Amino acid sequence: MEGKINNIKRLVGFFILLAFVLSGAATLSMSRGKAQEETALDRRVKKFLDSRRHTWYDMNVPESDGRILYDLVLKHGYKRALEIGTSTGHSAIWIAWALSKTGGRLVTIEIDEGRYRQAVANFKEAGLDHLIEARLGDAHEIVPALTGPFDFVFCDADKEWYRNYLEAVLPKLEAGGCFAAHNVGQGRSSRWLQPGIREFLDYAFSHPGLETVLEPGSRSGISLSFKKKS
Ligand SMILES: C[S@@+](CC[C@H](N)C(=O)[O-])C[C@H]1O[C@@H](n2cnc3c(N)ncnc32)[C@H](O)[C@@H]1O
Repeated sequence: MEGKINNIKRLVGFFILLAFVLSGAATLSMSRGKAQEETALDRRVKKFLDSRRHTWYDMNVPESDGRILYDLVLKHGYKRALEIGTSTGHSAIWIAWALSKTGGRLVTIEIDEGRYRQAVANFKEAGLDHLIEARLGDAHEIVPALTGPFDFVFCDADKEWYRNYLEAVLPKLEAGGCFAAHNVGQGRSSRWLQPGIREFLDYAFSHPGLETVLEPGSRSGISLSFKKKS
């Protein structure tokens, strides 16, 4: 009799466990389905990017770096983004596309009026203009005057000023936030780096409040400096 009761207990336990496993799997597959669901905006951005593939000639990031920025924003759920150096808007489009999924917004700064105007037109055509505040002006002045806070910064303007940009942004960067810098080559071990990059990297790698790494997937070189929680 006791053996029978134990068998029934084991059977009940097994079914409870099975129910847990199945409901967990169902939730996971539902949330995956949601994440992969393609929206009308996704289709519009993709169409825009496809139509412009191989036409980004204004010092724009390569598509592979655009994808890295997109993945970074999504992975960390960043929402308050700043870009220094818009050019005609290639990187901004990848960042803003990711922000359309996290519920975020992007401020981007460009000093050249022609490139700024082209970027604004591109943002409209891609359907992302409602998420982007494009500023025309000198980032040397605009960045220190911004109030923030930011949780993601993409620095891609004048390399000699990278360290100054980082210093100006750091107090406005949230803990866990990321300062991503473009064109850092293979980091401090590179034999040749654009003027200003080595000084920037020395500062970023030695700053006690930052955890700096090199993004392994980028050929141009992207450094990622995450603000420590302290
Ligand atoms: C490498 S491009 C940016 C490319 C852009 N991130 C993209 O992928 O489409 C650098 C841009 O920074 C701009 N720039 C340089 N110095 C600047 C400054 N002081 N303030 C604002 N923009 C600046 C340049 O005019 C140029 O368009």
